Amino acid sequence: MHLTHEEEAVLNGEEGETKQQLMEILVGVGKVFGADEMVQIRSAQVSGASYKTIGEWGLKWLLSLDARACVPSVLNPVGMDRMRWEEMDIDPEFAKKQLAVISAYERLGISLECTCTPYYLNITEYGDHLAWSESSAVSYANSVIGARTNREGGPSALAAAIIGKTPRYGLHLVENRKPELYFRVEGEPQQADASWYGALGYIAGKISGNRIPLFSGIRPGRDQLKNLGAAMAATGAVALYHVQGITPEARVFSFDTSGLEEVVIEANEVSDLFTDEIPDAVAIGCPHCSPEELSFLASLLEGQKITIPVYIFAARNIINREQESVRIIERSGARVFADTCMVVSPALEQYSRIMVNSGKALSYVPTMCGAEAMIGSTRDCIEKACNPQNMRQDSLT
Ligand code: F3S
Repeated sequence: MHLTHEEEAVLNGEEGETKQQLMEILVGVGKVFGADEMVQIRSAQVSGASYKTIGEWGLKWLLSLDARACVPSVLNPVGMDRMRWEEMDIDPEFAKKQLAVISAYERLGISLECTCTPYYLNITEYGDHLAWSESSAVSYANSVIGARTNREGGPSALAAAIIGKTPRYGLHLVENRKPELYFRVEGEPQQADASWYGALGYIAGKISGNRIPLFSGIRPGRDQLKNLGAAMAATGAVALYHVQGITPEARVFSFDTSGLEEVVIEANEVSDLFTDEIPDAVAIGCPHCSPEELSFLASLLEGQKITIPVYIFAARNIINREQESVRIIERSGARVFADTCMVVSPALEQYSRIMVNSGKALSYVPTMCGAEAMIGSTRDCIEKACNPQNMRQDSLT
């Protein structure tokens, strides 16, 4: 692997032990994956932020580092809302440790925006090289924005944030970004909202595995693409997909489908995943809600009272920008939490039947929250949550 004089100097410890150690991580990863050089990155998103995941050893490692990020860098969701953790019934001991992890990252120059939707923070554009970690964020950056990132582990993303570079291999190379599988979607979706695209991704991810799919027959908007990619990254390992006529690289390169394995997915097959069962809680915001999604939720909840708990998750920056929508939502009894999500926080572990509007959550909730998951449109989720017949004694009102 070719290194510049400056990179060699960092590797030789001329800029301190921390940078030397982090450069060793990057060079090690680069050698394993056959990278020929480093590439400058525009931003980083660092996973390994929940104390539940990194534990005491991870915290000690973070505290041992002494350097600062040199590109805009954010954290993945952590185990709780760092301001409202008591409302989430978080154990104070866990909260203390989680806050210590967060402040260790802050000392390293990582912004305390803890989100899986860093693309709402304007830290990337088409063609940028990135070092992002969370699978749905990676999928969105590659597919919807046309930026280039592999799915980084926590240490390699942190190393890239501080060094400002990442090894150039995998999805950083144009030749590795071509479609490898062709999905033809036939028929009309019953509901055009993002949940339907999440359900489509739930099915398509299982078929794709780690191949790059190209879709035709659908015309998703941005929130729908977000849900589609998140689900495929959960049920498969899809880090990049294309949609004919919609996603940027499909428009630039007009991919040829001849020679690709072709799979037909019927719209009805996707709609069959939706059920009409009664949940005991609703969770929305996987991935974290966009401003448009918060405003749609506010329009559905205005003047309503929830009868079962409703948890909504979004980036703190988006919540701050959408205060009016958040006030309307919370007047109904629903809660909008920042920094965390239904999967990384223990808050939803007390429920046994959780309704979601996301294909990724449909896949993760059973294993991560130990609950049965069911998918509904955003409108269905809110209608179920406000129906007095579904009333729970311990609703969050
Ligand atoms: Fe984001 Fe958590 Fe879902 S990290 S994509 S809200 S599982």
